[in-house]
Amino acid sequence: MAYEKTLQVLMVSMPLQGHINPMLNLAKRLISNGVHVTIATTEDARHRMKQNLQNTEVQFEFFSDGLALDFDRSNTEALVNSLKLQGSKNFSTLLTNLTKVHNYSCVIINPFVPFAIDVIADHGIPCALLWIQASALYSIYYRYYNNIDYFPNLEDPNDKVHLPSLPVLDVRDLPSLMLPSSPRHFYNLLNDLFKSIDKVKTVLGTSFYEIEEDIVKSMFFITPIYPIGPLVSPFLLGEKETNNFKLDILSAEDSCIEWLDNKTPSSVIYVSFGSITVLSQKQMNNFASALMNSKKSFLWVIRSHGSNNSNSPDLPLEFLEETKGRGLVVKWSPQEKVLMHPAIACFISHCGWNSTIETLVTGVPVICYPDWTDQRTNAVLIENMFQNGVNLRCDEDRVASTEEIERCIRGVMEGPSALKIKKRAIEIKESARKSLQEGGTSHQNLDKFINDLKATNI
Ligand code: UDX
Repeated sequence: MAYEKTLQVLMVSMPLQGHINPMLNLAKRLISNGVHVTIATTEDARHRMKQNLQNTEVQFEFFSDGLALDFDRSNTEALVNSLKLQGSKNFSTLLTNLTKVHNYSCVIINPFVPFAIDVIADHGIPCALLWIQASALYSIYYRYYNNIDYFPNLEDPNDKVHLPSLPVLDVRDLPSLMLPSSPRHFYNLLNDLFKSIDKVKTVLGTSFYEIEEDIVKSMFFITPIYPIGPLVSPFLLGEKETNNFKLDILSAEDSCIEWLDNKTPSSVIYVSFGSITVLSQKQMNNFASALMNSKKSFLWVIRSHGSNNSNSPDLPLEFLEETKGRGLVVKWSPQEKVLMHPAIACFISHCGWNSTIETLVTGVPVICYPDWTDQRTNAVLIENMFQNGVNLRCDEDRVASTEEIERCIRGVMEGPSALKIKKRAIEIKESARKSLQEGGTSHQNLDKFINDLKATNI
């Protein structure tokens, strides 16, 4: 009842790092525009979130995904199927209860909870989508699942794909979730979303217009996407954080910032492959050798480091000894603070979209080692369209050699190629910030969304 006069929005996300971060960043923007935000996610995250999210202005609500709390959710097939069958019912019950006390103008989902679309429609509430990847990916998936442009049969990774406003892509550079080699439940997840996309009233994007102008334009008369990004935390924009809440799946080792404080400007290579990717032993050895040979300082995030998990690769024994002083390995970094630090020269990244936009907004050049989902397409965008980084060339088994990694390190840190990439990274950083300022494209799109909410016209 206390919320009656306030504009209210519910957001729904899986509690994965790369999914929840953009939702939280949108929540922060909405809250600073006077909107009351509730975030609904699955019950298994309740404990983690309670620890992390005290004193926030967001209200959190939980529903069961239908699996026992101690079920191993790395079994993604069981998780996706259970969410669709049982999680949707539990979400429906939660939404019924929430609407007894809240008057939601809209429910904002992200792409990986398509089961929520029909539930939201059944409750008579408008649904919006926060597309948490590049607009290019929205365009590719939409065209593919709605049979709009010509795609080859996708069996041959070397086949070429010609799509509007995109560089020619090899099949292997398409988002992996739509490829025949991907598990069927991932294919179905996106298929469910794009088959129901007409029920979504507005699609917001975490990207920004200036870096994907042609793509955004090419979608305008098909199914428009309104970029409101780069959707990063206010901290990365040098703004004061009034709602300084985060949900980190692991505790960040803040001590690495003091370590960076003692390094000279633009001297340190930051290495991180996000919250999911695990390197093969061979690939880890090659990165270690290349970092050792480069003689440069580095900060490397290895989530499983020292975990005694037999599935995790080990660092070569001599590596830590030989790089003592100039290298630091942590299990989880405060990545935003790291990328904002003047000591950082470049980022060896898996090109998850959050990491990518964090580099765009901080002007940090990228060396791409993409793994799956949107990452290979992002790497093509980085090298060919944004031109703020280089893509590591890999063999058939997706292994980049030591020499290739060393070549790319030199390419982004030394000589004319490094200057060119850095210049481009700074240009993008400036245009990213402009798009978020009053009158900028992203600012206008968010304003429009909030005004539509007020007019219950999303
Ligand atoms: C997943 C997918 O893998 C990715 O391709 C998709 O675009 C989003 O969902 P993830 O692999 O975790 O995401 O990568 P990314 O999108 O880069 O998100 C990771 C987030 O964790 C970033 O916001 C990054 O700042 C943060 N992070 C990462 C840390 O705070 N500390 C770390 O040590 C590593």
